[in-house]
Amino acid sequence: MQAGLAQLAPPVGDGGKPLISARRIAKRVRQLGQQISQLYADSEQPLVLVVVLKGATVFAADLLRSLSIPAELEFVRASSYGSGSQSSGRVKLAHMVDGPLRDRDILLVEDIVDSGRTINVIRKELKSHKPASLRLVALLDRPARRELPVQIDFTGFTIPDRFVVGYGLDYAGLYRELPGVHALG
Ligand code: IMP
Ligand code: MG
Repeated sequence: MQAGLAQLAPPVGDGGKPLISARRIAKRVRQLGQQISQLYADSEQPLVLVVVLKGATVFAADLLRSLSIPAELEFVRASSYGSGSQSSGRVKLAHMVDGPLRDRDILLVEDIVDSGRTINVIRKELKSHKPASLRLVALLDRPARRELPVQIDFTGFTIPDRFVVGYGLDYAGLYRELPGVHALG
């Protein structure tokens, strides 16, 4: 058999039916954009979106375009997962924003909050820059596996205890291109 690209990624669970469709995501992202724009409407400086690479990039790109307030874009790289679906339990911060964050309004943009380790490490680092405010928007919240408490200011969807891929989220680097969120296996 030919090992073409289509064979590289095995089909996702639930017979290919998404857990959250692209339509539902688009609708929810628009709502989040409105809520966030309202909250920061009176700010004197542009909001700083700090996007957690790589998984949150798809969400962030849509969220950014749903805002009706000025916003800047920064990225941080953190990894708690190796190449599989089991957390290694440790978080490495590989890259940090270099623009000044002091007295700025920061909105952290994350794809999914799982154990809470990643976001706690990033939060601590960002806080040390003394921003005016620091909030979190997460596309997905999976509370079943939480190990550390996390305050999520804006949540897209709360999901059951299943590993998910698509809309930027990956399994071993694959499936990020799927327009919806799918459970794996
Ligand atoms: P935490 O540190 O355990 O909260 O893990 C959060 C990070 O792990 C996210 O930024 C994701 O990159 C990754 N992650 C956690 N759960 C999933 C999943 O179901 N699919 C894909 N990535 C996940
Ligand atoms: Mg991530």
